[in-house]
Amino acid sequence: MMKPEERGKTRPCVSRREFLLAGGATVAAVGLSSCLGLPLDTVLQTREYPRKRIGRLSALKPDVPVEFKYPFEDAGSTSFLVKLGVPAAGGVGAEKDVVAFHCFCTHMGGLLSAVYRKEYKVAGPCPMHLSTFDLTRHGMIVAGHGTIGLPQVVLEVSGDEIFAGGIAGLVYGRARNV
Ligand code: FES
Repeated sequence: MMKPEERGKTRPCVSRREFLLAGGATVAAVGLSSCLGLPLDTVLQTREYPRKRIGRLSALKPDVPVEFKYPFEDAGSTSFLVKLGVPAAGGVGAEKDVVAFHCFCTHMGGLLSAVYRKEYKVAGPCPMHLSTFDLTRHGMIVAGHGTIGLPQVVLEVSGDEIFAGGIAGLVYGRARNV
């Protein structure tokens, strides 16, 4: 125990400057990792799921999203298919303009299928905090609070039939695509 006369004479084991520098570095590291919240390979990974027929090319109307469930049948698997009318990354069909994405905003799960904006080919602004995702560029976030892109459903076409075969990106609410 320190005697009263010794108090104030000893140097702290860490100076204020050292404390602030170390603290700043720690906060920056934690902030970066929690901003993404996940390992990068999980966020960018494409995961295969059982192939499922989700629609027909001839039944799609330009700029009218159609909901379906994938990879499972639960509400959390709600996704949407849309014919953008312009070529898109990952698009299928003769014009490479048919794409599909999960419906839930990557920020806090706002429902995006109802806020498709045909003039910009984006999903958003999200009704909760305005995040917006570019559907021509793999669901890349272009505005708002989301930190990762919208998960894209990997599509295949056989004749007129459209099939889902996997998910590129992490489905909202999951720590890992299972
Ligand atoms: S839930 Fe979509 S921006 Fe927050």
